[in-house]
Amino acid sequence: MYNSKIIGLGYYVPERVVTNNDLSKMMDTSDKWIQERTGIKERRWVAPESKDTSSVMGAKASRIAIERSGLTKTDIDFIIFATLSPDMYFPGGGVQLQNMLEMPTVGALDVRNQCSGFIYALSIADQFIKTGMYKNILVVGAEYHSGGLDKSDAGRHVSVIFGDGAGAAVLSRTEDNTKGILSSHLHSEGEHAEQLTVKGPSICKWVPELLKENDPNDKSYYPYMNGTFVFKHAVMRFSEVIIEGLKANHLKAVDINMLIPHQANLRISQFIQKKFGLNDSQVFNNIQKYGNTTAASVVIALTEAWEQNKIKDNDIVVLAAFGSGFTWGSVIIRW
Ligand code: UT7
Repeated sequence: MYNSKIIGLGYYVPERVVTNNDLSKMMDTSDKWIQERTGIKERRWVAPESKDTSSVMGAKASRIAIERSGLTKTDIDFIIFATLSPDMYFPGGGVQLQNMLEMPTVGALDVRNQCSGFIYALSIADQFIKTGMYKNILVVGAEYHSGGLDKSDAGRHVSVIFGDGAGAAVLSRTEDNTKGILSSHLHSEGEHAEQLTVKGPSICKWVPELLKENDPNDKSYYPYMNGTFVFKHAVMRFSEVIIEGLKANHLKAVDINMLIPHQANLRISQFIQKKFGLNDSQVFNNIQKYGNTTAASVVIALTEAWEQNKIKDNDIVVLAAFGSGFTWGSVIIRW
């Protein structure tokens, strides 16, 4: 059986920086509240005049990842695209990426697992490579949140958290079984689907119905989050799934060289860091600059950590995420 290894990484974030003070001019919030509760100082939002969408940003990140991998787009056998903010209801972002990158007619799969999207996507790619079906897979996480947020006072508990951006990884076959993705661990608990959701438009609440209701107070097409409920589950599931990954590989917390948690809230990352007794050099956070970019967050953070030489050959790298669904997961890598 083959193994899979990340051989190229890239990310793209929109140029427009939106600070906490900028948000306080749009809604009843403050830099103090946002920093104390989330650690976020600023985020990137697509500018009104920009043509960036999830697929466009995904394509920009992918070009960088493919170039750094030393491959060309014709070497890519398959695309996996994770997003909760696709350009269209259907078809998905994967086929749009295939078109934008002018790639051959390779398969393209969309993953709808929100904050865990990149972890799920990477795990799927790993299975395809391990079985020998594909050799090089482009794995993308991309989100365009800012177009769909409630920027009134009523939406402040959600809108201040989310940012736009994209990241991409090229996962490639290796015959060295000591390196690459060691294991991945995926979970879900649909019982809590409504704690973090966008309910409409959907097949249950389709556009004619929304128009018929024409209710100015209808917020069902904005993200809803029961923040404290989600927070409590996040800290529990992050811990569980990291322990599960470590155990599966006979590793301990001290063996972690770099933990890249999904950037949901700096307080969640700090809780996990303390729980596992990790020092600052063993955990990478960039939520301060980008906010929560959902399916893009882990791959943007992984790319930045790698660019800053914080990941070295042979390091144990742990990726972990939790979010809407609920879904959660971890990927354990020997770099
Ligand atoms: O990525 C997917 C997974 N997501 C997560 O894991 C996120 C988990 N949840 C969280 O990170 C936190 O729950 C939030 C950051 C969303 C909220 O922080 P919190 O400490 O749980 O605050 P809260 O919702 O309990 O609200 C506390 C107070 C409330 O006022 P009262 O009722 O105490 O008077 C809110 O109305 O803060 C108020 N508040 C705000 N104030 C200023 C809520 N949002 C804001 C805001 N600015 N943006």
